[in-house]
Amino acid sequence: MNSTVTEQLIDFNEKQRVFHLHNNLISYIFSIEKGGFLSHLYFGKRVRNYHGQLKNPQRDRGFSDNLPGTQDRTYSLDFLLQEYSSQGDGDFRKPAAVIRQANGSQSTFFVYRAHTISSGKPKLEGLPAAYVLDGSEAQTLTVTLEDELSHVELELMYTIYRDRPVIARSVKLTNKGTTTINIEKLASLQLDLPADRKQVISLPGAHMNERHLERENVNFGVKSFSSRRGTTSHQMNNFIALCDPNTDEFTGDVYGFSLVYSGNHKEEVEKDPYGAIRILVGINDEQFDWQVKSKQSFQTPEVLLTYSDNGFNGLSHTLHKLLRERVARGKFQYALRPILVNNWEATFMDFNEDKLKPLVAEAKQLGLEMFVLDDGWFGHRDDDRSSLGDWQVFQKKFPAGLKRFADYVHTNHLKFGLWFEPEMISIDSELYRQHPDYMLQVPGRQPSPSRDQYVLDIGREAVRENIHDQISQLLDSCPIDYIKWDMNRHLTDIYSKALPAERQGETFHRYVLGLYKLLEELTTEYPNILFEGCSGGGGRFDAGLLYYMPQSWTSDNTDAVARMQIQYGTSLAYPVSSMAAHVSVSPNQQTGRTTSLQTRGAVAMSGVFGYELDLTQLTVAEKTVVKKQVSLYKKIRPIIQYGTFIRLLDPSKGNHCAWMFVATDKSVAVVFSFKLLAEAQPDFKRLKLAGLDPQKDYQNTTSGEIFGGDELMNTGFYESIQPGDFNSQMYYFKLV
Ligand code: DGJ
Repeated sequence: MNSTVTEQLIDFNEKQRVFHLHNNLISYIFSIEKGGFLSHLYFGKRVRNYHGQLKNPQRDRGFSDNLPGTQDRTYSLDFLLQEYSSQGDGDFRKPAAVIRQANGSQSTFFVYRAHTISSGKPKLEGLPAAYVLDGSEAQTLTVTLEDELSHVELELMYTIYRDRPVIARSVKLTNKGTTTINIEKLASLQLDLPADRKQVISLPGAHMNERHLERENVNFGVKSFSSRRGTTSHQMNNFIALCDPNTDEFTGDVYGFSLVYSGNHKEEVEKDPYGAIRILVGINDEQFDWQVKSKQSFQTPEVLLTYSDNGFNGLSHTLHKLLRERVARGKFQYALRPILVNNWEATFMDFNEDKLKPLVAEAKQLGLEMFVLDDGWFGHRDDDRSSLGDWQVFQKKFPAGLKRFADYVHTNHLKFGLWFEPEMISIDSELYRQHPDYMLQVPGRQPSPSRDQYVLDIGREAVRENIHDQISQLLDSCPIDYIKWDMNRHLTDIYSKALPAERQGETFHRYVLGLYKLLEELTTEYPNILFEGCSGGGGRFDAGLLYYMPQSWTSDNTDAVARMQIQYGTSLAYPVSSMAAHVSVSPNQQTGRTTSLQTRGAVAMSGVFGYELDLTQLTVAEKTVVKKQVSLYKKIRPIIQYGTFIRLLDPSKGNHCAWMFVATDKSVAVVFSFKLLAEAQPDFKRLKLAGLDPQKDYQNTTSGEIFGGDELMNTGFYESIQPGDFNSQMYYFKLV
């Protein structure tokens, strides 16, 4: 054992053969058991010391087989809480690893060989991951397991942060044998918990309806949440949480599992015959088959494992801070994000330079800070059937090139942002005419269109280089401050012309690795450009993309009422600084619903704020409201984007929605409260706040009333009753 660190966050008790990872907030304990198998003992609130009393009980259970070569009928991997399981090791639950060996066998027994404890946190080659600023911030335990027969080695990596209730976990496989093996499944994390009544929270959805909070009991059998769409997907986010039945926003235990990855994923929750619970999180094993030659390795993505005993808001605080402070990077990590206007819902693709200029001028008048030119500026794109892959300006729309327009935007003292969809190709494009083989396509079969577009094989170097060079030529010739990186379909026709038959099962993951490579290059080469992720709205909203792009378009649904649900759910796992939210026209283009400009503003101001409508069409009265919203947002922006976000009332549970933002020093609180439908006999609704200093007094700056922080949090206050549907109220409290 190589222990290099003095102030230990990780102990290994030689006598008990027990690892204890701890900080002031959490403890994570596991042991090396008979036969060298790792057994999970505890994850939760900090315990000072583990005295060895908590052994996993043993028993002769029927039909649970025992270790090869032993006669102990009470010891079986089938009910041991394992730290990392594999196929064929006698554990009949879902395995973490399935390794196919040269002789076709899938059976492996991974047993302890060695471990190291080191300061800091290693980088994961080619993958996004949480990082540390200096080595003292975290310690990493690497436990090496080996399958004796195949000589496949697994390194289980656990990084515990000193000041956060977080353990980052991943697995690296190395083939130390002489023959080639195939990984059929390699989860990033396994967590086995003792029998208990638990509930699981997931974030399912659909295009224009992303990340709704879904809570259900963990019942016997296996429940899996997954995407096989090549990306994180709108349909199922790669975050789950496990909680107690009585956990609520403020109290109770909850574990969070956040996969730092942007491709196919699977989160499995299994309740075994004896009530114990297994969680597996990682790359989806379906359509995954990765060949590892002798001496080669494979690194899984990372899972951020978090624990809170302060309910869901506690969990969110940990994740918001972690993703903001140790996953997002670059110049814009803590920067106040510009208030933008995007021309998409204003013009769609029907625009040219002359038509856009009044929008720019109006944006300046209203105090906005950035103009974003969306889809339709390149190739010969007048509709969504052409030009993806041709990242040269459309002469018809910009006769003097894009630079003249960018300069116009800049002379109006606005930043200039541009939309790209770099991973896609249209059949009607120069790129396709020159390189038809760049597309993902099964030989001999017509590929399936989606929005009339196809997917580039971005895992291939030549394809990446082509796209990279086109984008950088444009960025070098035109001053651009922001890029919206869109992706408007999911992956089908999974076949890469660059891979041999036996490696086709690698295509999905190679796509993601290629995307990360391209993003790493472009974000490094253009550090002054703010990148925003997008995938038909929030189809790729995940911790992996956040490593490259600190914000993402939350949903193509800009209806304020629908957005309450979407933003409420998204905030469970992602910080407000990552959630772009825009005011659009009413009646809303996606739902047909009519809402007031005030309510649309309040919902959008609860994220990274902007507008997405034709500003020139606003009435004088509306322009006055917009000006007020813009100047208000400028005032509250630091608290909204970087303060503490607290959910108060879930819109899916009643007629109200409320959330609030508190400055880090608790000196200011901004509260948004929404009523959905009008009622003839409404409740007298008392709103209770949270996160304030109970010892200090706060003033409502509109009414002048003074409240104790303890009063606001315990007695609360009655809200005034507003007539009509979809009302909003905002309160600004500051320390007296
Ligand atoms: C989907 C995005 O989510 C929209 O905001 C817009 O950029 C369109 N794509 C453009 O095609």
